[in-house]
Amino acid sequence: MIAKREIRVGLIGFGVVGRGVARLLATNGPLYAARIGAPVTLAKVAVRDLTKLRPVTPDPSMLTDDPFSIVNDPTIDIVIEVMGGEEPARSLILAALANGKGVVTANKALLAIHGEEIYAAAEAGNAPLRFEAAVGGVIPIVRTLNGAFAANKIDTVYGIVNGTCNYILSRMAEEGLGFEEILKDAQALGYAEADPTFDVEGIDAAHKMAILAALAFETPVDFNSVHMEGITRVSALDIRTAAQLGYVIKLIGVARRHNDTAVEVRVTPSLVPEWMPIASVNGALNAIEVSGPDIGDNLLVGPGAGQGPTASAVLGDVAVIARTIVDGAPPTPRPMNVPVALRRPLPALPLEKIESRYYLRFDTYDRPGVMAQLTRPLGDHGISIASMMQKEKVGKRADGASVVVVTHWAMESDLRAALAEIEGADILHCPTVVMRIIGDEEDE
Ligand code: NAP
Ligand code: HSE
Repeated sequence: MIAKREIRVGLIGFGVVGRGVARLLATNGPLYAARIGAPVTLAKVAVRDLTKLRPVTPDPSMLTDDPFSIVNDPTIDIVIEVMGGEEPARSLILAALANGKGVVTANKALLAIHGEEIYAAAEAGNAPLRFEAAVGGVIPIVRTLNGAFAANKIDTVYGIVNGTCNYILSRMAEEGLGFEEILKDAQALGYAEADPTFDVEGIDAAHKMAILAALAFETPVDFNSVHMEGITRVSALDIRTAAQLGYVIKLIGVARRHNDTAVEVRVTPSLVPEWMPIASVNGALNAIEVSGPDIGDNLLVGPGAGQGPTASAVLGDVAVIARTIVDGAPPTPRPMNVPVALRRPLPALPLEKIESRYYLRFDTYDRPGVMAQLTRPLGDHGISIASMMQKEKVGKRADGASVVVVTHWAMESDLRAALAEIEGADILHCPTVVMRIIGDEEDE
């Protein structure tokens, strides 16, 4: 039964993603309409500044600087929120859902912090909410967790979830260029957030891992409990040293369920063994591995940022909602695989209890006894050394040496205690570089 002849869409935001949505609708409109069963029409577009010069300008008759006129317009079926930020995006989405409209958003910053409220509002308003573009660009990770893997208990979700950082680290490794120069390119290519600090400080990746953990482990995630470190302190020296040891450095997010008693969510620059498939995922690609007892390890790889991939993910979600409208079917308002009321809060695993292998780089004085002063505290705290490398006369310092230690598995609390002793011993020129090593456990 065809219940509706046209789907009217309101677009809030006409930046990188919003322009992509409009472009795809214009270029692939007939194909898209055929697949949905009705044309999808861009009815209104909201921007912040009507006077801004734009690479492409929508028809002035549909342009507004009042996004509430979109969410309250009774002729609009589906609202696409691609403006970003917490407010007014939160209020706009809540209003649209209360008005029974379908909502599609790419706003991970919003969902990581206000997700539970918004998921509940979708259920209460009997209004569909979809957010595939919020995580992993065009990779269909949300629908995979919600749909294809619905019968499975997921143990671990980990991987590369920030395109900007992956692009920067890949080019630093391949071309030896400086961080700032590459970040400018990432911005020009439309990969970076409006405030790129969100990317390079690991905040954006933490937003995405919080959303994935909430989805995979059926639990609300307190964003404040997510440990995050960005890539701003990853040096060319560490990239080269890691390569000598057989690793590449990636910004890696890890979400793990610990025996139904706790959830671990963290984002850190990490050493990835060269043999692992994600080690060769470069540029703005993302790679997310989902593991569980019955499904094994499943690696999903694809473009994780930029106009085309993100707009495609948005319009994929619009198509799902539009089809139910066209078919006259009841809306499917549940955004998470478990209804909000049945989701069980699991506490966050404290950082001190996280276990990992570690890469440690000490910039030491080159004098007798230093090696013993480095290794004794590690041994005293039960940390076993897997490999070790010393280089003399690092940089301009004639009295300096660089010592790199790779540890076996260790508890974060033990590592911190050992490092506190080492740093108190007056043998270091600079603070220790500490990075986690991915492998074994994530790949089991
Ligand atoms: P952007 O280029 O900065 O565009 C934001 C748009 O929103 C602009 O058109 C801006 O208007 C409009 N806007 C901002 N505040 C507004 C307000 N109060 N009222 C009306 N319009 C407002 O951002 P983007 O890169 O397209 O990203 C949009 C969203 O998608 C963000 O949530 C982002 O995290 C997410 N996302 C982006 C990517 C990506 O690769 N870029 C990928 C996945 C998800 P003006 O044009 O007048 O300034
Ligand atoms: N700034 C984000 C990134 C956009 O670089 O991954 C995609 O979410």
